[in-house]
Amino acid sequence: MKSAARGITATCLSMLVLSIAPFTMAETMREAVLRKAAIKNGLRPVENTWPQIASEKAAVGRLLFESKLLSLTRNVSCRSCHLDEFGSADGMPLARGAGGIGKGKERLKSQASILPRNTLPLWGRGGIGFNVFFWDGKVDARAGVVLSQFGNKAPSKDPLVVAIHLPPVVFREMIEENEKTEWLRQESLSVTNHIYLQITQRIRKVPKLSAPLAKAFGIKVEEIRFIHIAKAISAFIRSEFRLRETRFHRFVFKKGSLTKQELAGGLLFYGRGRCVHCHNGPYFSDFKFHVIPFTQLGFGFNGFGIDYGRYNFTQDPNDLYAFRTPPLYNVTKTAPYTHSGAIASLADTIRAHVDPLAKVDTSKLTAHDRIELYRKIARWMQELGNAVELSEEDIENLISFLKTLDF
Ligand code: HEC
Ligand code: HEC
Repeated sequence: MKSAARGITATCLSMLVLSIAPFTMAETMREAVLRKAAIKNGLRPVENTWPQIASEKAAVGRLLFESKLLSLTRNVSCRSCHLDEFGSADGMPLARGAGGIGKGKERLKSQASILPRNTLPLWGRGGIGFNVFFWDGKVDARAGVVLSQFGNKAPSKDPLVVAIHLPPVVFREMIEENEKTEWLRQESLSVTNHIYLQITQRIRKVPKLSAPLAKAFGIKVEEIRFIHIAKAISAFIRSEFRLRETRFHRFVFKKGSLTKQELAGGLLFYGRGRCVHCHNGPYFSDFKFHVIPFTQLGFGFNGFGIDYGRYNFTQDPNDLYAFRTPPLYNVTKTAPYTHSGAIASLADTIRAHVDPLAKVDTSKLTAHDRIELYRKIARWMQELGNAVELSEEDIENLISFLKTLDF
């Protein structure tokens, strides 16, 4: 009896194993494919991207990041636009700078000047290998030297430190436009240096900022220069916004699990969806420039609703309308999307990549805007394979995968 019972149990078990085996095995194979694809396309454990953290400098860097003294007209700080509650961006389509009051949408009610671009988040900025900054890559250290508006007078060899030099000298961003500031508008190095000196002299006079800053650099308060301010802020950004392990990292490197939908989305991202063609490497960016025919919001960097993107910096016609591939960490928290914040939802942003006219009512555009869009589509068509057929379900799956990149 006993052995018969054992026999039956054994048969039942083997039947059970047989019936679930193809399913689990298939899942495991799909998991293995995704893990392999992620590593092959440059995903690394987050610790591999961590720069050295200088905590004393970072602590005073935080105070400077939050200080309105960094604005010549004393009415905006880095924090006004890079806010925790919006994934280190500001939740608005286009940034609102000097003269603005409050956070996020509250700023719309004030006299804030409007910038032509969407605020970029700061995650991973200044991590190892993160060396192209801004939507148009106007600070670019890929070639081993820092290319920027400073020409051969770059204030530092560290591209993040150079990038931090820009917001305080940009009109409307941190300098309010008025009669008194008008003369500073000429873009010359001597005007820029004048602004840095003004800000530095101010900071030296505030012991709460200058004492810890001088101490962190082992210098006297009167020796503080703008470079120390920028370096302290870079230490803060590197420490505060370093990448943290995501669910996707745990899946790839620690045998963590994903839901069926996340897995399907991941396989699309690395496979048929071709997202990884551009969104690759440890930051989900190739740090190159591509044209995605997104509609343009606002007056645009070049005026008249036009933003020529990378071209503004290189003057190379091949760079017209091209922008740096944005990294995708915490992307679910940084709506609205694109360089001009023109698209509110993640679904429509993904759709526009592969099917640019799907959500655009071209009859509502002006003839001028339609022509702009045709020009972008023509450029986009040059990258083979950019048009991919994605169903609504595919897009939902991709979004579910992108959520695994949050932390
Ligand atoms: C008025 C809002 C505003 C303020 C104030 C502001 N930023 Fe930004 N920040 C932006 C916008 C908009 C961009 C994208 C600009 C572009 O690429 O053309 C950006 C981009 C950046 C980037 C580049 C990120 C990347 O992905 O390449 C860094 C770094 C940065 N800001 C740091 C700072 C620091 C440091 C300060 C203070 C000194 C500051 N920002 C002040 C709106 C702001
Ligand atoms: C040909 C290169 C390329 C491919 C392929 C690509 N992207 Fe992008 N992606 C970009 C560039 C460049 C931008 C920014 C363009 C702009 O703002 O004008 C962008 C923007 C985005 C944004 C908005 C990010 C933000 O912060 O505003 C998301 C989300 C995104 N891509 C996801 C995807 C997904 C998902 C896929 C696959 C279906 C994909 N991308 C395929 C290059 C690419």
